[in-house]
Amino acid sequence: MNQDHKQLITPNGNTKYLFFGGKGGVGKTTLATATAVWFADHHYKTTIVSTDPTVSLSAMFGQEIGGEARIPIRHVPNLCGLNINPNDAKGVFQNRLNSVMGQMTGTFGGDVISTPCAEEMATFDQFVTFLEEPDSDVIVFDTAPTGKTLRELAMPFDWASFLQKQIQEGKKLAELMNMDENSFEELERDKRRYENALNVMQDRSSTVFNLVLLPERLPIEETYSAIQGLDRLGIPVQALVINQCILPEVIEGNRFLAARASLQARYMGEIDARFGNLVMSRLPLLDRDVSDLGTLRMIGEILYGTERGRI
Ligand SMILES: Nc1ncnc2c1ncn2[C@@H]1O[C@H](COP(=O)(O)OP(=O)(O)O)[C@@H](O)[C@H]1O
Ligand SMILES: [Mg+2]
Repeated sequence: MNQDHKQLITPNGNTKYLFFGGKGGVGKTTLATATAVWFADHHYKTTIVSTDPTVSLSAMFGQEIGGEARIPIRHVPNLCGLNINPNDAKGVFQNRLNSVMGQMTGTFGGDVISTPCAEEMATFDQFVTFLEEPDSDVIVFDTAPTGKTLRELAMPFDWASFLQKQIQEGKKLAELMNMDENSFEELERDKRRYENALNVMQDRSSTVFNLVLLPERLPIEETYSAIQGLDRLGIPVQALVINQCILPEVIEGNRFLAARASLQARYMGEIDARFGNLVMSRLPLLDRDVSDLGTLRMIGEILYGTERGRI
């Protein structure tokens, strides 16, 4: 258990937004769900949101979790789940955007929304709704692999400045043509929504971005570039979780395991040297996969401790 990590992610009166990012297959869903269950078990009102198009959240909890509304997770009081499917979200977003932009298209032409980014933007649009109306103590995001998440997060920056430009030019034109300037209110409101959301994500006291990695070459490099990419967006990475660590006591003379463990030890040294300024937790490689509530609770206790009641 790492006391610093627990302290970093525990709500302190305000809602905490916890992101778990990283390369595909490193354990993002495992860490996000175990963390969400741990907080719910400790009497925090908790929501877990998946923005990964895979069905992993539903599979993990053995129940259908959709993108329409949050649903209570069975056997975990205080926990609700939502699965944002980028394709469904795109439809909703496109409709909303069509109505907002309807007034502009005549003037500016151009089909702004049929860009390849509409999907990322749509996912972010649903993020924004959560950031606007938090009704949980903890909101955990199980994100898509790093590259896609970075694209999702970067889009609103472009979008906010695009809206700004549209508004400015639109207003000039409206003035010239004696049109009603109030028709830009909706765009202004949209722009403010994105800016507020980004402010929340950049605020280290409300949002904690955790990256999950394995003590191996490629996840280390991906972690490094994710930290840089997020940094360019003004979003600090505050914690790493090093997953699937081979503990000395499981080796028991096995040469294969010993070789893997010594390789891991070398990479652990590199992780310490390169990312030593971040809070770090370690999760051992378990003798089973993680697909049931019992194992999720065990992981939560390994990471954040076993005391009962709200901390
Ligand atoms: N510490 C661990 N010990 C054993 N298996 C693990 C551990 N962490 C994750 N797994 C398994 O690894 C696979 C990938 O984990 P997952 O959380 O789905 O990764 P991601 O969401 O990053 O793609 C899953 O089958 C999961 O059960
Ligand atoms: Mg996953």
